[in-house]
Amino acid sequence: METDYNMLGRQLDALAGSDSDRLALAANFVALLHAELPDINWLGIYVRRGDELVLGPFQGLPACVRIPFGQGVCGTAAARNETLRVSDVHAFDGHIACDPASNSELVVPLVVRGEIVGVLDIDSPSKNRFTADDQAGVEALVRQFGAAIERSDEPPTGFI
Ligand code: SME
Repeated sequence: METDYNMLGRQLDALAGSDSDRLALAANFVALLHAELPDINWLGIYVRRGDELVLGPFQGLPACVRIPFGQGVCGTAAARNETLRVSDVHAFDGHIACDPASNSELVVPLVVRGEIVGVLDIDSPSKNRFTADDQAGVEALVRQFGAAIERSDEPPTGFI
């Protein structure tokens, strides 16, 4: 069944309107997507800290804490500032296997005020899980999340 990304956008809007704390919104964004996207074994945000990505709010098994820019699917997406839709992670040179159940992956950079502040990483146990429509839908949600982060309370340091 196809995911209704417009409906998810309205739900994200409601979450963003209910409180202006960045950490709470990030945690709820991840929980919403994990609840609504089928066939997913891991879904979360890696937050930029200098030249690395550090594990942030997520749903799934405990995962790698630090990923240098340019490494793995997440670090490559962040370094290139582009979405990576990988149909078979085992064929991706340098893939970091945190959860051995993962077979395909979608990583979307999170941009706030023109700067990469993290990535959203979604892993599936199925190969070829993510379609071009999934990519477009998730990219739109991540843009919406980034816009909500811009309007939200600044944390003492970093993105969250
Ligand atoms: N597979 C990722 C690492 C993060 S885990 O999947 C949670 C990568 O290669 O970037």
